[in-house]
Amino acid sequence: MEQPRRVEHQLTDKGYVPVYTTNVVAQPWDQYSAEEHRTWALLFERQMALLPGRACDAFFDGLRRLQMSSERIPKFDDLNPILKAATGWELIAVEGLLPELTFFEHLANRRFPVTWWIRTAEQIDYISEPDLFHDLFGHVPLLLLPVFADYMQAYGEGGLKAARYGDEPLTELTRLYWYTVEFGLMNTPQGLRIYGSGILSSKGESLYSLESASPNRLGFALKRVMRTRYRIDTYQKTYFVIDSFEQLFRATVDPDFGPIYYDLKGVEAYPAGAVLDAERVYQRGNGMGWPADGDV
Ligand code: PHE
Ligand code: CO
Repeated sequence: MEQPRRVEHQLTDKGYVPVYTTNVVAQPWDQYSAEEHRTWALLFERQMALLPGRACDAFFDGLRRLQMSSERIPKFDDLNPILKAATGWELIAVEGLLPELTFFEHLANRRFPVTWWIRTAEQIDYISEPDLFHDLFGHVPLLLLPVFADYMQAYGEGGLKAARYGDEPLTELTRLYWYTVEFGLMNTPQGLRIYGSGILSSKGESLYSLESASPNRLGFALKRVMRTRYRIDTYQKTYFVIDSFEQLFRATVDPDFGPIYYDLKGVEAYPAGAVLDAERVYQRGNGMGWPADGDV
């Protein structure tokens, strides 16, 4: 079994995080063990039992077109021609979380970095950093949807731009990614649906995000989201609900964020669990089980 090349653990404002080499590697597909394929199968089957009626249609459409199945860990080389033909995106295999600028640069060029290694059997229910299952199952199906594919590329460009504005803009843009790409919900005629990859790849949060009385579910509003702290170590206290990917695209890609970053300069962020006076409330969470600290 191959080992990910972890460089060191580095102290950031989010605690110690592992730092990996930024190299793009070849997916060592032949070296996945039988147990690793079983881990994939278990996670895949578990989510496929839960997600119908909970995840958005575009997610299932993407999965089906990519022909992912529980049978074995997919080969990036098999997925890439399909993805490329659909929206021009391609998967690259990486060792793990990348430095922000490297990540943005890949997205801006329609390259989606996927961690090549999968969690161990003991980490089935919780892993604190993205692995192959999260990156591939959670993120990649939506990259076949043109409007979402375009959003992701624009986000990468927006990241490179935010970095030129400074640390505060970067933090604000990261919150947008977190509350949309990672933990977003969508309002549909059939009810709320999941599109955020952090939810799609988690059994517990697939149920919690939609069905628990604890979290807030609030209408998406750009500046509001950019001002909202989040949790990296628990389920979210708040989920933001978009009406459609077109709405998300228009709200984020069209406006120049320069003036928004300027307006938000020095402005205090909202706690992760805040509900404001005039906003669309799908559910006001009862706050059960919320820790008092730890919003980042
Ligand atoms: N429109 C943003 C800007 O001017 C870039 C962006 C696009 C940000 C898509 C997020 C998502 O900075
Ligand atoms: Co992710």
